[in-house]
This record gives sequence, C-alpha cells and structure tokens, in this order.
Amino acid sequence: MKKSILFLAIIAALASCNSKQTPLSNDEKVNFVALGDSISAAAQKLLLQNVSSAIQQGGTGYAVDFCNTNAMTLTDSAANEFKVFISRLSDRNRNTNNAIATEIDSLAWQKIKSEKASFVEKTSSGEIYFYKPISIAMPTCIKCHGSELDIAESTQKIIKEKYPNDKAVGYKLGDLRGMWKIKMSKT
Ligand code: HEC
Repeated sequence: MKKSILFLAIIAALASCNSKQTPLSNDEKVNFVALGDSISAAAQKLLLQNVSSAIQQGGTGYAVDFCNTNAMTLTDSAANEFKVFISRLSDRNRNTNNAIATEIDSLAWQKIKSEKASFVEKTSSGEIYFYKPISIAMPTCIKCHGSELDIAESTQKIIKEKYPNDKAVGYKLGDLRGMWKIKMSKT
C-alpha cells in the first residue's frame, strides 16, 4: 500500500517536471534567437550612439562618467520597449552588477567562450534566456577597455574613481568582452 503511494508520488513528480521542461522546438529556437539578436542590436546601437556623442561632447573621461550614470538606464529603456530583461555580463566586469554570478550564467559563459555564437535556453522553471557574445569590435572600445597605453591617463583616473574594482581593461581589438543576456517571455 505504502509502496504504491510512493510510486504514484514519483510518477506525479516526474510528470510535472516533464511538463515544465518541454524543450524548445527548433522553430522556436530560431525565432527566439532572431528576436534576441534584434533586441541586442537595438540596445547596442542605443549605447553606442550615446557613448559616441558623449565622447564628442566632453571627451572619453566625460563619457565614462556618462556611462556610469546612464548605461543601465539605457539598457533598461530598450528592455522596457521590448518587455524583456536585458543585461551585459562579463568575467572581467567593470560594473559590479555585471558579474557572472549564477550557475546558469557561468554555464552560458563557457558555451559563449567555446562557440562564440548566440543561443537560447529554457530553464527547468520555464524561463527563456538568450545569450550573445560581445566583442571588442571597434577601436573606440579600446579607449576605455584597452591597456594602460590605450587609455588616456585622465580617463584611467575617472575609471578608478567610479569603479574601484574595475576588471574591464587589457583588451585588444577582436577580444571577447562579455555577453548579452536577455530574459524573454514565451509570447
Ligand atoms: C567612454 C568609455 C567607454 C567606451 C568607449 C566603451 N565602454 Fe564599455 N563600459 C564603460 C563603462 C564606464 C562601463 C560600465 C557601465 C555601467 O556602469 O553600467 C562599461 C561596461 C561595458 C560592458 C558591461 C560589462 C561590464 O564590464 O560592466 C561591456 C560588455 C562593454 N562595456 C563593452 C564595450 C564595447 C564592446 C565597447 C566598444 C563598442 C565599449 N564597451 C566601449 C566604458 C566604455
């Protein structure tokens, strides 16, 4: 008697697990990756436009200050527009909020490092995450993420002031810098 109840409980547990973990079909994956690519491209464009105009307006140091106040708000505004959650994560992060801190993000980072391509993943609780590599794709990035020779002294000073735990320097053109992470809902 007790055994059969235990048996039923196990079956129920397995069934509920399965229904939560229905994997994404290939079509769904393709669609979510396309959506993630276009959202991250829009957010990237918004950031780049703002950084470029801040550099023009007040130089690189001023632009660091600008990013310090506005980078998160800018990505959030893009996120609100698309009704998703957007973040940029890195193993050598500048802003402490952008550290790779959870197991799922660590696994995603391993995959990004080895495959260097976007992908989507559905968690056991049914959430959908999109990840995409971010590279040091243009010389401008080096002005704030390069070596001591690449970053103006005045800029280095502001970076140290705003980000005492900064790890986001020493990159070269073409290096992998981090990844986009977008949490999507299944609509
Ligand atoms: C004007 C200086 C400046 C330039 C130019 C710049 N960044 Fe940054 N970057 C920053 C600052 C400051 C932060 C931290 C923003 C914050 O506090 O949210 C940051 C954060 C990031 C992050 C988030 C992870 C982290 O370390 O916190 C990524 C990824 C990143 N930058 C990539 C790039 C790439 C790629 C380029 C070139 C297209 C670039 N950056 C150009 C200053 C700059």
